[in-house]
Amino acid sequence: MLKTKITEMFDITYPFFGGTMMYISTPAFVGAVSEAGGIGILASAMYRSKESFKDAIKEVKDKTDKPFGVNINLFPMMQPIDNNEYMDVIIEEGVKVVETSGHRAPDDIVARLKPEGIKLIHKCVGVRYAKKVESVGVDVVTVVGFENGGATGTLDITTLCLVPAVVNAVNIPVVGGGGIATGQGIAAILALGAEGVIMGTRILCTEECPIHDNLKKALLAASETDTVLMLRPYGNTHRCWISEVTKKVKELEEENAPFEKIIPLIEGPKTLSMIRDGDLKSGFISCGQGIGQVNRIVPVKDLFHQLADELKDANNRLGQIIG
Ligand SMILES: Cc1cc2nc3c(=O)[nH]c(=O)nc-3n(C[C@H](O)[C@H](O)[C@H](O)COP(=O)(O)O)c2cc1C
Repeated sequence: MLKTKITEMFDITYPFFGGTMMYISTPAFVGAVSEAGGIGILASAMYRSKESFKDAIKEVKDKTDKPFGVNINLFPMMQPIDNNEYMDVIIEEGVKVVETSGHRAPDDIVARLKPEGIKLIHKCVGVRYAKKVESVGVDVVTVVGFENGGATGTLDITTLCLVPAVVNAVNIPVVGGGGIATGQGIAAILALGAEGVIMGTRILCTEECPIHDNLKKALLAASETDTVLMLRPYGNTHRCWISEVTKKVKELEEENAPFEKIIPLIEGPKTLSMIRDGDLKSGFISCGQGIGQVNRIVPVKDLFHQLADELKDANNRLGQIIG
């Protein structure tokens, strides 16, 4: 049993958030993360209609009675969705936790959802964004250093420097992440003053994660040098696992190619071929530098137990050092 402001606020066993992952944070996987004692977060951007989004929330509720969250995407999208409609569904379905992530502060979302008693989390990559979202009324701020898998922004601050800076700058609880894949890493994040930890890359290699086995095996074999930042020239920097497609995208970036030339390589169906069908030559997958510390595929429940044990080992080691 771990006790932080986050375990108390959300009534959960572990202060671990399963990061939102486009095409991967399905109802079954979200349910598995919450059942294991953390909080799974459903990626609402995966659903193209409010009806299918509503069904997905119902499916999560069938999988778990424990707290889970829903992510509202504020990043630019090739096919934007109407977040107002999705907020209607969130309220109708009694969702208790909403995470926002993206290129702007969630003022409108806070104004609509806070009066409903929904706990609001915003994920960002810098001190000034954290202060801004605290000022608009979010309950928790999540910050990820640029080791992380997925969107990194442009500040390029490492987790070790970003987490304490944000902890010093805001009064609301901070969840930290980016590169965290072991209990020792979690110990570091908590020692830096965070009240919880977010992990995306680590939970890709779990039994319940709905990515193809070919991809899980490739990621297990990957090291911390096997990721690359791409799409920065197009204002949407992402850290991804190096693959044939990311190499091609980097070549096009070098040639100052227009974004229209990139789209056919990375659009949804191509990425789904990699993630769901295991075609490693198609599309791309976000992946953080923490992949170098991932060496086993285990059920999420076992992973969380293992992380908690490692956290205790780290604490014992420090106790021996400090005396
Ligand atoms: C495959 C993958 C897909 C992701 N997709 C999203 C997304 O759709 N929206 C989002 O806010 N974050 C996304 N992220 C970021 C995660 O939610 C989380 O912040 C990040 O993985 C934490 O860093 P780590 O990967 O080093 O653990 C994604 C990450 C990965 C690895």
